[in-house]
Amino acid sequence: MGDLHSFVDLPPPESSDSKFIETFHEDEKGPISPLNSADLHTNDFLDWKTFEPSKEETIVEPEPTVEPEPTLNEMPPNHFSELPPSDSSDLPPSDSPNLKLVQPTEEEWIAQSTSNSASWRGALSVEAYLRREAVLAKTPFTEDGGMTIWALVDKEDAGRQVLAGCETTKKKAIISRNGRIEDVLCHGIGSVWCPPEKRKRGYAGRMMKELGVALGKWQGEEKEVPFTVLFSDIGKDFYARHGWEPFNSSHISVPASSELVEGPIDLNRLPHTTPILASDLADLCATDEDLIRKSMTSAGSQSKTLVAIVPTAEQIHWHHAREDFVANELYGKTPEIKGAVVGTEKGKRVWCYWTRMFYNEDPTQSKGNTLHILRLVVEQKEMFRGEKAGAAQEGVEFVPAIAALFIAAREQAREWHMEEVEAWNPSTATIRAAQLVWPQAKVVHRDKESVTSLKWHGEPLPGMQEGQKVGEFVDWIANEKYGWC
Ligand SMILES: CC(C)(COP(=O)(O)OP(=O)(O)OC[C@H]1O[C@@H](n2cnc3c(N)ncnc32)[C@H](O)[C@@H]1OP(=O)(O)O)[C@@H](O)C(=O)NCCC(=O)NCCS
Repeated sequence: MGDLHSFVDLPPPESSDSKFIETFHEDEKGPISPLNSADLHTNDFLDWKTFEPSKEETIVEPEPTVEPEPTLNEMPPNHFSELPPSDSSDLPPSDSPNLKLVQPTEEEWIAQSTSNSASWRGALSVEAYLRREAVLAKTPFTEDGGMTIWALVDKEDAGRQVLAGCETTKKKAIISRNGRIEDVLCHGIGSVWCPPEKRKRGYAGRMMKELGVALGKWQGEEKEVPFTVLFSDIGKDFYARHGWEPFNSSHISVPASSELVEGPIDLNRLPHTTPILASDLADLCATDEDLIRKSMTSAGSQSKTLVAIVPTAEQIHWHHAREDFVANELYGKTPEIKGAVVGTEKGKRVWCYWTRMFYNEDPTQSKGNTLHILRLVVEQKEMFRGEKAGAAQEGVEFVPAIAALFIAAREQAREWHMEEVEAWNPSTATIRAAQLVWPQAKVVHRDKESVTSLKWHGEPLPGMQEGQKVGEFVDWIANEKYGWC
């Protein structure tokens, strides 16, 4: 881990006469315990009556600005010419028994990636996007069967047409059912795509139907695949029709440009943070996995079925390989600081790691770029209790530490031309921490973009009747950005 003082320019914690506490409490309570960084976890530290989030805390995502996709003529030459011509008379009906889900050839995959670059290249040129995809296909997370490319085709032979495509990544997951913890697999679906000239004929829908069957068994010889996930950028309906049910998809964000304001506490008295570097992540991920297991175990058999995607070092490395690639293309350098931690004693730390997502093609501009908190961990808190959004008063004693992490993230966002810092499915403590840093921060419930969605493939869920929602029987624990693909 890097040097503490060079990271966040905060004064060292002082002892008992901390203004941090006094200012926060002066109107509500008498003297209370002072704060220093060692006192972070005392329950009576804050009186949240003085800091209730505004009644309008929750808002629904505004309509996103839709960027026009390039027309076929704007696509680079060559890629569609490599595919057979397709006038509509050539196209099979989407319910044709001849349609098959296969792994495409390399040539088909390049054509597929070139075409879908319009949707996913972000700040990169098409050429750089293709290079990035090739790099990302060879990370420890994706190689050796970690990633699978899928295509819906009209026949298996040469000359076939690719009607729709996507990728899946194999994720390590844990479920707790009937009080038993099991190691399982989960596949994450990404890059769902249909060539522009073949859209609205039901091909993507047919592909999802086929995937719904295939994925429940895919690599099932390794481990059971009881659930799969995706992150819809086209709202809730399309994927829900095929069994991927929308789950909690909220976030809170803080603009990178926001200035700290005088509030109920003295922000300069927040605890110190230390940078997290890439080399720190394997240990932190192992600790996190352990915490997830423990918290699922302590849930016992009374609760719903719990599922969690394990935040493995390999998966986090994939996010950072993506970040590093784009940063290098835009700036000729890569960001060293991958997160921040408060505290040093194992079991008492509060930490998060992040990734920068660059969408703005102009490297001097920040609009649209987001520093995503991939995962936020309070080691001392039973994870599922501390992380459930809306669980009143849960974990409020950790607010100062989380606020300090937001400030550290915001510094990095500024340095790297990010417009904002965003944390998914924030706990009450995270919401309040964000609002300390930026009082206008509100929880946004996304219903168009990155809608986290889950399909159940496993044994019937205990008690679930026909027509009931999986979400009534399954809690998706640690549903944070790290699981995104
Ligand atoms: C989304 C996409 C894969 C759909 O492919 P398709 O073969 O045309 O899909 P289908 O014909 O099976 O189904 C069409 C339905 O998809 C849904 N749909 C497609 N695009 C949508 C969008 N942008 N927003 C919301 N729903 C959408 C609609 O329900 C549509 O039905 P409608 O035409 O009656 O409204 C295709 O439009 C595409 O490749 N888009 C660009 C990449 C993308 O956004 N992928 C999704 C990432 S999550």
